[in-house]
Amino acid sequence: MKKITVPLIRQRKGGKKITMVTAYDYPTAKLLEEAGVEIILVGDSLGTVILGYENTLPVTLEEILHHTKAVSRAVKKPLVVADLPFLSYQVSVEQAILHAGRLLKEGGAQAVKLEGGEEFAPTVEKLVRRGIPVMGHLGLTPQFISQLGGYRVQGKTAKEIENLQRDAKALEEAGVFALVLECVPKEVAQWITEQLSIPTIGIGAGAGCDGQVLVFHDMMGLTPDFSAKFVKQYLSLRETIVQALQKFVKEVEEGQFPDDEHSFHLPESELSHLKKAPKP
Ligand code: KIV
Repeated sequence: MKKITVPLIRQRKGGKKITMVTAYDYPTAKLLEEAGVEIILVGDSLGTVILGYENTLPVTLEEILHHTKAVSRAVKKPLVVADLPFLSYQVSVEQAILHAGRLLKEGGAQAVKLEGGEEFAPTVEKLVRRGIPVMGHLGLTPQFISQLGGYRVQGKTAKEIENLQRDAKALEEAGVFALVLECVPKEVAQWITEQLSIPTIGIGAGAGCDGQVLVFHDMMGLTPDFSAKFVKQYLSLRETIVQALQKFVKEVEEGQFPDDEHSFHLPESELSHLKKAPKP
């Protein structure tokens, strides 16, 4: 078992494709490791997928930390990357260092991810120089939802493409070891990928990226009322789980569960004693 490290991911530029999937808990992280997923992202999608928030903005550092600890306890081989939540790195570089540092020191992550471009390059540089590896995130950046006005494909106009290119270059120069490109036309994602020396990891960004990431609950069909063009649903677990639960409800109501097989028995010798015991 060779631990996946930040330098190993960086070396994969243009080589074998990188795989990244989100996890927020111990058993899911175990499944991802067993399946050979290389990077586990404790994304701030935690807010919408697990905690029931409307978007990712309310997610706190303590919440990400709590879930990062659970994921880190579960795995040895995959690289664990934790998202810096909204307002944990935007206010000052000092806060960014403190918060990112906690995700490594207390959470057990090996890297952090932050959303945003050129404006965060100085922050990225300071983090990296202090030993905190950073993954960038451009394109559709959900922490900017109020500004973007909706979850739409980004990089569709010449101006947007120019901005993406500038931001990607600035982040690369600042020292990010990989860059997530979310909801970007495949031609644009490939064009950006070809200009960078660091791997890009796409979500809704086509096959030209150096790797792919999906949200576990989306790909397994566990997210209620959610479908996005870029999500491939590998399973319909929601239906399977609801069917199993309905069976449980029916069996309990009809007295079929628990049956003898799932019950403990008193030894014969004690049974007679029980029968003789006075009832209260
Ligand atoms: O929070 C998250 O899950 C993410 C992925 C969608 C890349 O940032």
